[in-house]
Amino acid sequence: MKPPTSTTTSYLLLAPLAILLLVSVLPSLRPWSRAGSASDDGLGVLCARRAGFVDVVAAAAAAPPPAETTRPVEPAAEFSLLVGVLTMPSRRERRDIVRMAYALQPPPAEGVARVDVRFVFCRVTDPVDAALVAVESQRHGDIIVLDNCAENMNDGKTYAYLSSVPRLFAAEPYDYVMKTDDDTYLRVAALVEELRSKPREDLYLGYGYAMGGQPMPFMHGMGYVVSWDVAAWIAGADEILARNDTLGPEDLMVGKWLNLAGRGKHRYDLKPRMYDLNWFMDNFRPDTVAVHMLKTNQRWAATFRYFNVTAGITPSELNHLP
Ligand SMILES: *[C@@H]1O[C@H](CO)[C@@H](O)[C@H](O)[C@H]1NC(C)=O
Ligand SMILES: *[C@@H]1O[C@H](CO)[C@@H](O)[C@H](O)[C@H]1NC(C)=O
Repeated sequence: MKPPTSTTTSYLLLAPLAILLLVSVLPSLRPWSRAGSASDDGLGVLCARRAGFVDVVAAAAAAPPPAETTRPVEPAAEFSLLVGVLTMPSRRERRDIVRMAYALQPPPAEGVARVDVRFVFCRVTDPVDAALVAVESQRHGDIIVLDNCAENMNDGKTYAYLSSVPRLFAAEPYDYVMKTDDDTYLRVAALVEELRSKPREDLYLGYGYAMGGQPMPFMHGMGYVVSWDVAAWIAGADEILARNDTLGPEDLMVGKWLNLAGRGKHRYDLKPRMYDLNWFMDNFRPDTVAVHMLKTNQRWAATFRYFNVTAGITPSELNHLP
């Protein structure tokens, strides 16, 4: 497949006010916490578990990094990618659909990438939610619960996630860190093929949002990838906090942080292979990397149909499915 437009550009400042007014930001969910000890059922194919995951409640930002843990050696891959799906405790049904969507898609080519998909929450304080999230984590082993953001926080979840990952995974850094949402269907193998030839450093890749004469001053919140060094920079950039730049339209703010600091200079816009599903649900593309705006079960059903997710089901007496 022909890679989409790939340009490397350095960005300067955005006009922050224009941005604030113009951008609609996606429903980003909550960032995190991390767990992952239990059996990993559905995500196994895509997400070889990082074995040895210790249940860790993310320490507060000031806390020391977690002790190094030894993890069994996994087959070498060209690179590794952490996909964080920002979500909330109440969106259990959606999460279940998204989990299946990741589990029932073709894995990346052998040996190319290790991809871990994790659902990311903020601190869960409601006792019922906390109990159910704990059970879900135990069952699936694919949940991160951040403790540097609050359950009902509206702002700053993306910052909480991106700034925590370098600390949480300090012992075994990923090459790339992705933020996405639970209304995005991400086709991991397609993304991996895109990333394969890209720089492992100073990268910022996604659906470029043109603004103020710049082709991609920031990436749309449906899903974007930064390289590990960029996440590590975010984690240590006191200037972001000093400017209160964790608040507001989060995905746009990520672009602002990077632009002001001259980071993420290797930018790649995956339009049109990343897109919003339209009202009529008729703009799917076979070379999709990510399709967004899957806010209803009907839209997920259309997505699964289009991508032939159940095409292999053999009809039987026990299985009267279309
Ligand atoms: C950041 O927010 C705090 C609390 O709302 C406020 O006191 C401070 O002046 C703000 N700083 C900047 C640089 O806007
Ligand atoms: C789904 O299957 C049909 C029939 O085999 C095929 O024509 C189509 O290209 C497939 N769609 C995708 C997205 O692979």
